[in-house]
Amino acid sequence: MQNFTKSHELLNRELQVSPLAAQTYSKSYRYFCQGLAPSYMDHGEGCYIYDVDGNKFIDYMCALGPITVGYNEPSVNEAVIKQVNKFASGSLQSELEVELAEKLCEIVPCAEMVRFVKNGGDATTAAIRLARAFTGREMVLMSGYHGMHDWSIGASENHKGVPEAVRKLTVNFTYNDLNDLESKLKKHDVAAVILEPVQSNGPQEGYLHGVKELAHKYGALLIFDEVVSGFRYALGGGSEMFGVVPDLAAFGKGMANGYPISAVAGRKDILQQIEQGVFVSTTFGGDSISMAAALATIKILEQPGFYEHITQIGTIQRDGIEKLIHKYGLEEVLSVSGLPAHAGVSFEGHGSLSYLDIQSVYSQIMVENGILVFAIYNLNKSHTEKEAEAYLNATDKAFALIKEAVERDSVDHILKGGKVDPVFKRNIK
Ligand SMILES: Cc1ncc(COP(=O)(O)O)c(C=O)c1O
Repeated sequence: MQNFTKSHELLNRELQVSPLAAQTYSKSYRYFCQGLAPSYMDHGEGCYIYDVDGNKFIDYMCALGPITVGYNEPSVNEAVIKQVNKFASGSLQSELEVELAEKLCEIVPCAEMVRFVKNGGDATTAAIRLARAFTGREMVLMSGYHGMHDWSIGASENHKGVPEAVRKLTVNFTYNDLNDLESKLKKHDVAAVILEPVQSNGPQEGYLHGVKELAHKYGALLIFDEVVSGFRYALGGGSEMFGVVPDLAAFGKGMANGYPISAVAGRKDILQQIEQGVFVSTTFGGDSISMAAALATIKILEQPGFYEHITQIGTIQRDGIEKLIHKYGLEEVLSVSGLPAHAGVSFEGHGSLSYLDIQSVYSQIMVENGILVFAIYNLNKSHTEKEAEAYLNATDKAFALIKEAVERDSVDHILKGGKVDPVFKRNIK
């Protein structure tokens, strides 16, 4: 029997002193059925996490992407502890910085040089600034989510607090639609086309090549936001998978198995502008602990079979979800999207039920069955067929109840607590 007493106590305390009581929107209590899910983690081991009340879960969130090799990974711990005993951030940089920059230049297709920062949004923002300086233009075309900075969040539905003058400089374009991109490139003097190269079920044949050709035809630079796709689908992300080399790319999340580090990578002539006054500089950019973690993590990611393993487990899960949708005839309310290594369930409303009603049933049942997942799952090295089976068993139970909810046009008889209630509905990760 699950018990969340300590989680709830901590949550109530934190809500008094920290808005939302989680520093990332999608890790907050509002992204689960309120009252029926853990909020605080005690420790992790491989693909399992243990909350502060002692409940154990198979973790399919993987910290929203960063955990690629698994919690408490001995070789990452060892590398980190070795460096902890020397220094974290120092007055001079660490030798590890040279090694990591060289490693990224070896494994990232576009990387002739790299610059380290901390969050994914720092890296995308650095890339945009470099592109604007290089082209002498201001407009940005974007597709996907690129972090909290004004230039990108200002162009989303969640733009409160971003000046109108900044918002006008970024325009969204539609993924997998070259005509839409070209019409916007014609209309604006564009500095950069930035996109997540792998979205939903991936790029259509030739799409990324087309984006590159169009961006260059109209004098813009191409930036891949590989913050999610990098180190997760392949070491070099979507660029490596689909054989298209952008001018710049941003990496973060999965690089260091949970330690905070990100990087902007790309052409030397563009990165070298940093030596000529294009400002990309942070106090903790050279933090050596994260660099030690990144080097140890990449060593594991580079081992033969790593990505084949993740893809195999992901394929079992993805195919399994699809079969269960058909088993229950839920095609109108559920769909599966994503490539195997990073996929999951999407929810639609039905009758008087909203998509969040349906998602709440899913979330409650997954948690009840020991699975911590939002909607899209992330995998790490230690997920195996055993965990995939548990994931699909829980999914089966959740879908059976979603079927019942749809038939009765009600979730009231199923939900035992609050509903999933994200601060931002849709469109934010
Ligand atoms: C594709 C993509 N780019 C950028 C970011 C921003 O990264 P961070 O939250 O580390 O700033 C995210 C975060 O979810 C992301 O998914």
